[in-house]
Amino acid sequence: MQHQDKVIIIDFGSQVTQLIARRIREAGVYSEIHPCTSDPAAIKALNPSALVFSGGPSSVHDEGAPPLPKAYLEWGLPILGICYGMQVLAHTLDGEVTRSQDREYGPAEFSTLGDCPLFDGVERKDRLKVWMSHGDHVGRLPSGFVRMGRTEKLENAAMFDAARKIYAVQFHPEVAHTDQGGRIIANFLFKIAGLKPGWTMASFVESSVKRMAEQVGDGKVVLGLSGGIDSTVAAVLLNRAIGKRLYCIFVDNGLLRMHEREEVIGFLQEHFDLNVKCVDARREFLDKLKGVDDPEQKRKIIGYTFIEVFDREAKAIEGVGFLGQGTLYPDVIESVSFKGPSAVIKSHHNVGGLPEHMNLKLVEPLRELFKDEVRKVAAELGMPENIIWRHPFPGPGLAIRVIGEITDERLEILRQADMIVQQELRASDWYRKVWQGFAVLLPLKTVGVMGDDRTYEHVIALRIVDSIDAMTADWSRLPPEILARMSSRIINEVKGVNRVVFDISSKPPSTIEWE
Ligand code: XMP
Repeated sequence: MQHQDKVIIIDFGSQVTQLIARRIREAGVYSEIHPCTSDPAAIKALNPSALVFSGGPSSVHDEGAPPLPKAYLEWGLPILGICYGMQVLAHTLDGEVTRSQDREYGPAEFSTLGDCPLFDGVERKDRLKVWMSHGDHVGRLPSGFVRMGRTEKLENAAMFDAARKIYAVQFHPEVAHTDQGGRIIANFLFKIAGLKPGWTMASFVESSVKRMAEQVGDGKVVLGLSGGIDSTVAAVLLNRAIGKRLYCIFVDNGLLRMHEREEVIGFLQEHFDLNVKCVDARREFLDKLKGVDDPEQKRKIIGYTFIEVFDREAKAIEGVGFLGQGTLYPDVIESVSFKGPSAVIKSHHNVGGLPEHMNLKLVEPLRELFKDEVRKVAAELGMPENIIWRHPFPGPGLAIRVIGEITDERLEILRQADMIVQQELRASDWYRKVWQGFAVLLPLKTVGVMGDDRTYEHVIALRIVDSIDAMTADWSRLPPEILARMSSRIINEVKGVNRVVFDISSKPPSTIEWE
């Protein structure tokens, strides 16, 4: 897609490189991440307006440490180096990087020296709280550079060459622990590089619709709609681009929440006039799941059955040439990113995807966006809050929340209990504050008393967690009154349940889902 100003981040493997892109985009400038192993000619072809060199786990002195291609320094573009990005700049020019035995990790106090546009308007410049994470440091500046800041431990904590517009800092302005980091990045973009903010979600919608219309031409696109924000936004954008030549398929696998099917489809048809086919495949899924209690087995069965159903439905549409998908930018980066030795190992659910024999070309309207940007696009497209802020819902749905064997009766109990959890979270305003909240049906019965009678019935567990990215999570500290209301409503209103427990485990070592 053509963007007015574009900042290319060369990734040297830092775990926080994505944050640099997000900060730049928040400032209103489009930004992309490319691995340090990219061919500089390919980067040049992207027509960048400025470059950022990210941090990374290596030492420039290590064998196999990623080098900085000299070409990047020859195009006359404004450059910002961060952490390893600063060291590799010094090392590649004629400066010197000093090895260090121990790493400095954590907060530091940074003082600016003299005037430098990177720190224009930054408050408390003489004792700025910054975040450090490095081993080596720049011992001698390259010629032409001047120092622009120091910390107690580091003589050369920042440097610049105004004539060449090359700036570098040892600390990480992109992380929240650095005070006024956004301001520092904005200064680089606007005061130093002279860029113009042009990246807005309105401009994204306009250019993405245009691009998809060009890509698809007069072809047809099929897209699996899950009810989640990503596939919904992808569908609405595609619908704008090609109208009724977008065929959405919503598969009811019998494992959805109460009223989910009607809510999702009804809403999309009513407000966006989407072409949605709802496939009732409930029996097909539930029959295959009969007698299965192993979670991974459940996932596998649901995964391949989905592909079978989707494939069958897609084939029934004559002349489909494209598959629409809600792939997001973090998945795109993940698949090409430069992995330093300390890279996180992320586990992916549901990657699998659709079979190659379908022979469809991909259309991915969201592949440039971060999740928070998808939400902004949803707002731009006029979607209501309850869609924009919907909690993540796993592909296998309620199957992994009915612990043990899945039966119609047990699914119905869970559905009713879960509906109460959703209602109470929404009514109390806690829905937006928590990452996910749901009910789990346990594979055991316990004794209770109702009136004068002894009961022997099911147990529901409440799983409500706070999280940033689902990689780690902690149980939400909900006010006890809300928990009390959920519990008494579930026990009173859901036939077959006489006990409710609240899960107080964090992830790790537990997981968010119970299966
Ligand atoms: P866990 O249970 O691994 O969950 O802590 C992390 C996040 O992933 C979701 N999840 C899944 N999503 N298919 C999915 O699409 C799955 O099989 C699956 N298992 C877990 C979970 O809801 C949470 O948001």
